[in-house]
Amino acid sequence: MDWQQRYDTGDTPWDLRGVTPPLEALLASGRLRELGVPDRADVAVPGCGRGHDLRAFANLGHAVTGFDIAPGVVLEARRLLALNLVRGAQVHCRDVLGLSGEFAQRFDLVYDYTCFCALTPYLRAAYAREVAAILRDRGVFLALAFPMPPFTGRADGGAGPPHLVRREDLFAAFEADHEFLADFDAEHSAPSRAGFERWFAFRRRPRA
Ligand SMILES: C[S@@+](CC[C@H](N)C(=O)[O-])C[C@H]1O[C@@H](n2cnc3c(N)ncnc32)[C@H](O)[C@@H]1O
Repeated sequence: MDWQQRYDTGDTPWDLRGVTPPLEALLASGRLRELGVPDRADVAVPGCGRGHDLRAFANLGHAVTGFDIAPGVVLEARRLLALNLVRGAQVHCRDVLGLSGEFAQRFDLVYDYTCFCALTPYLRAAYAREVAAILRDRGVFLALAFPMPPFTGRADGGAGPPHLVRREDLFAAFEADHEFLADFDAEHSAPSRAGFERWFAFRRRPRA
């Protein structure tokens, strides 16, 4: 999948053109604190795309770092953050499967929206290991999992992303290094995604 080409041709149906509404609702709810995330957290957003969700974290005082493999969209994300006068956010052009050396134990929270589903399923365990590596002990992996059953697949029937995300897929990938904390309904989902997405939170097990 050539992600940059998809951005260049405007073929980006995943982009909601603003902060993800269920994330806005979650940030307003105080749920992050209940999950043990500090009020001024170091937050990573893998596969951040145009970086809309970075804005929501930064505006609350978190130090947020986005990662995306598509170089053009990284520049675009930086431009949008500057345009919106957002401070405390960085965006790096990186493969999320190669973060552990540079960013080991740097984050209190890793937030995933449609990065997990963008990866070919056989890469999910490797991705979960990267998440575990960049989280501090007891840091939180928080995923707004999409597309979940009963989503029946892409309208065009293609084999590429988004790959279906089942509850057991998340557990299979993340259970090795994380303990399950909670799952709960997503509020204010975009109409086309309502009923197909749900929050999951896992906590990084302390290293020995
Ligand atoms: C479905 S899009 C979601 C983008 C963003 N989260 C959003 O909701 O608008 C998936 C994003 O992950 C990026 N991506 C895919 N594979 C990646 C990888 N291996 N490393 C870093 N980013 C990746 C793509 O470039 C794309 O921006």
